[in-house]
Amino acid sequence: MSAEDLYLDLLKKALTASLYDESAGHASNWLKVNNQVVTLPPGAALIQYRPLDEVARSEGRDWPLFGFTMAGLKRMDNIQHCLGQVLADGVPGDLIETGVWRGGAAILMRGMLAARGVTDRTVWVADSFEGLPPPSADDRARAPKDPDHSQEAYLKVPLERVQENFRRFGLLDGQVRFLKGWFKDTLPAAPVERLAILRLDGDLYSSTKDALDALGHKVSPGGFVIVDDYHAWEGCRQAVDEYRAARGITAPLVQVDWTAVYWRA
Ligand SMILES: C[S@@+](CC[C@H](N)C(=O)[O-])C[C@H]1O[C@@H](n2cnc3c(N)ncnc32)[C@H](O)[C@@H]1O
Repeated sequence: MSAEDLYLDLLKKALTASLYDESAGHASNWLKVNNQVVTLPPGAALIQYRPLDEVARSEGRDWPLFGFTMAGLKRMDNIQHCLGQVLADGVPGDLIETGVWRGGAAILMRGMLAARGVTDRTVWVADSFEGLPPPSADDRARAPKDPDHSQEAYLKVPLERVQENFRRFGLLDGQVRFLKGWFKDTLPAAPVERLAILRLDGDLYSSTKDALDALGHKVSPGGFVIVDDYHAWEGCRQAVDEYRAARGITAPLVQVDWTAVYWRA
């Protein structure tokens, strides 16, 4: 393996926390004592140890206790593949992830640009940085079985925390730009001119639709649209299918793992 391949391999394993059994643990802030629920004081947690399930982690099926992405190694490999293709073919444009959680997938994009010495592309990092919105009436009507994760504390990662994650990997610089707020407010007016990679990971119908409507037409020919949630979230699938049908996009959807797909523009 080349030094670049070794760096990216290690980066992907660190971002997914695939190196550490402890990352498969489950944390809770309460326990039962004599059938009474006792809430732990702020800052304290009870960690239930579990050995790392390497298959689950590679497929992004478990939520890591720590680690910087929940997308799993196969989807990290897919980002590396798409970005490698874009760089090899000289497809113009920046890279964006809409829905970043702790930032790991976008950190991989920035790390790969650094490894290749690419200085003329920006990684855009778009999120509310306060978790998912509650499902709208439209979301509920289209995909009643999709969950409501709006109260899930685990999914609320502040902007400063994500910036700190980039910094710890030595990858926070002017080639990373953050778009904070709900996609419907930030993305239509975002100063993004052209995209080589649009990675959608906002889970909901409305989040996927808002990102596609605002950014889909900015993807260069030869660029990639990656959809993390296509098979996991019914609403996401509907938003993607509607978008492609309305614009006559027939490029095949390529399967990445049990949920993610991509197409090439
Ligand atoms: C499943 S997580 C993303 C996982 C991440 N891509 C990774 O690699 O681990 C979904 C993210 O989308 C964000 N999100 C969902 N809908 C949104 C919206 N409409 N506007 C802004 N952020 C949104 C949430 O805050 C959350 O960080």
